[in-house]
Amino acid sequence: MRSHYCGHINEQLVGKTVQLCGWVHRRRDHGGVIFIDLRDREGLVQVVINPDTPEAFKIAEGVRNEYVLQIIGQVNERPAGTINSDLASGKVEVVVTTLTILNAAETPPFQLDEHENVREESRLRYRYLDLRRPEMAKRMLFRAKLAQLLRRYLDDQGFLDIETPFLTKATPEGARDYLVPSRVHPGQFFALPQSPQIFKQLLMVAGFDRYYQIVRCFRDEDLRADRQPEFTQLDIETSFLAEQDIQDLMEEMIRQAFKQMLDVELPNPFPRMTYAQAMNRYGSDKPDLRSPLELVEVTDLMQQVEFKVFAEAANRKDGRVAILRVPNGFELSRKQIDDYTSFVSAYGAKGLAYIKVNGLQDGNPDLQSPILKFLPTKVITALLERVNAQAGDILFFGADKAKVVNDALGALRVKISQDLNLMVGSWKPLWVVDFPMFEQDDKGSWQSLHHPFTAPRIASVAELEANPGACVSRAYDMVLNGTEVGGGSIRINNMDLQMAVFRLLNIDEERAQAKFGHLLGALKYGCPPHGGIAFGLDRLAMLMTGSSSIRDVIAFPKTQSAQCPLTNAPSEVEPEQLQELHIRVRKIES
Ligand code: AMO
Ligand code: AMP
Repeated sequence: MRSHYCGHINEQLVGKTVQLCGWVHRRRDHGGVIFIDLRDREGLVQVVINPDTPEAFKIAEGVRNEYVLQIIGQVNERPAGTINSDLASGKVEVVVTTLTILNAAETPPFQLDEHENVREESRLRYRYLDLRRPEMAKRMLFRAKLAQLLRRYLDDQGFLDIETPFLTKATPEGARDYLVPSRVHPGQFFALPQSPQIFKQLLMVAGFDRYYQIVRCFRDEDLRADRQPEFTQLDIETSFLAEQDIQDLMEEMIRQAFKQMLDVELPNPFPRMTYAQAMNRYGSDKPDLRSPLELVEVTDLMQQVEFKVFAEAANRKDGRVAILRVPNGFELSRKQIDDYTSFVSAYGAKGLAYIKVNGLQDGNPDLQSPILKFLPTKVITALLERVNAQAGDILFFGADKAKVVNDALGALRVKISQDLNLMVGSWKPLWVVDFPMFEQDDKGSWQSLHHPFTAPRIASVAELEANPGACVSRAYDMVLNGTEVGGGSIRINNMDLQMAVFRLLNIDEERAQAKFGHLLGALKYGCPPHGGIAFGLDRLAMLMTGSSSIRDVIAFPKTQSAQCPLTNAPSEVEPEQLQELHIRVRKIES
């Protein structure tokens, strides 16, 4: 039906006759001549219908937006002054000889013009129209090419693409499971995988050595701009490779992807930072290194001060007092500081003390702050020196549990850097390494920082059990501009160690067997040393296309409340279906 894509028509085709199919993006009637921007997945081209082709002209008069057309015409250069440099086809137009309407269309519920502000619920309800928007089509094409390129790299490196089941058992990655009831086994449920973690480890036991899969994962968790209940991982596992080898392979893959997709050279190698450094300097285990701001530790200086808020935080075991120094921040208004104070309160901070450094004459600093009266001169001098204060700075303080200070000042660091245009460079990847194996939850129980199959860096099980809190894991996260794009580790390949980790996590032998017996069994039969990683493909595509939401790179995403407005899922089912599944629904009156 067609010879070319609309978006591929360019000056090299001048003089040629082409046959195109596409949708009417816009139609303009210039009294005597009709112009149509014809659109397909590759882009737009302007087609012109003159009255000297009366048959085509008559049809064109009845054409409306989003009609599907087939045209035959000749590619001509556009007259001087009418060139559109925004379009790949902007130097040419197609003068129509034959026009056929392949299908009519009702007026769409929203305009497909690029900058139209349409409610997201409406965009998702009519996703098939939303995806016609050129910027959405571009993102889908980008994503497909990215996936193709990643596959090619891994194929070339000897990785095998192997599928793992969706109807399976719980795979712990820290979220709730989506459950699927079994019809043939009353009262029993499958869980959709939160990741193929255990299966990819079993594939290593099976000897496949290098595995990858572009695979859907399911997690019932609170949604944010960079999270979806079902999302896609580029999932990878290898045998007989150390951390460094795996990181080298993965870095090179990401470097090639950036080079080929965006013509961007990422650093070689990526910088590495320990978890402890990342938390201390950036208050985050996924620091955005485009921001030059850093947190400075002042806990030790605050232990004796009169200001209770600081002294208390400085003296508690899990407390921290830190300063975020913002150069030229002294110009921030009272209102801006109040706004930042409410910004950090969302992270649990109870306030945001500050000192403005208006001047720094020798020995006589000109400071402005509501908390000066609570701080001895000695302490003020020491902290100005510690943060290397300069005239014009504002120093923001966080004092609380370390977690609250890190979350609050870590987020404030990024926010202020964006607001004050302090970000430097476009792409700042890094590896974060040396994570703790465990962290304690509010009840004092140990939780895995990654998943329970992550290997610790220890010499013996006894060492792990003696001080779990001090134990560092062999995990590594790839972070890009403040987003965790991938995470992985070397795994436990020894039954005793795996059981010891389960015990620390309060999973006794019986539960371990019931939940993970399939892995524990396999560890007994010659499990090679192995490790891997999984990338969030949606997140990677989101960052690389500069999209502000993960939903913009997923063809059919869920809303923030985990629903699909297009299909109206989830929805009630027929009573017969429930009966077959041995399920009775209890309605809770709200
Ligand atoms: P992890 O849980 O860190 O590791 O997931 C790997 C990567 O997947 C992406 N990701 C998500 N993307 C969108 N929506 C979500 N809800 C979501 N959750 C995670 C992130 C993350 O870095 N089995 C381990 C990997 C391994 O150890 O090999 C795992 O799943 O980009
Ligand atoms: P207050 O004595 O409560 O009026 O607080 C004096 C200053 O300290 C104000 O600027 C508060 O925003 C700030 N502040 C209070 N609690 C904290 C905290 N936990 N961390 C940092 N600053 C705080």
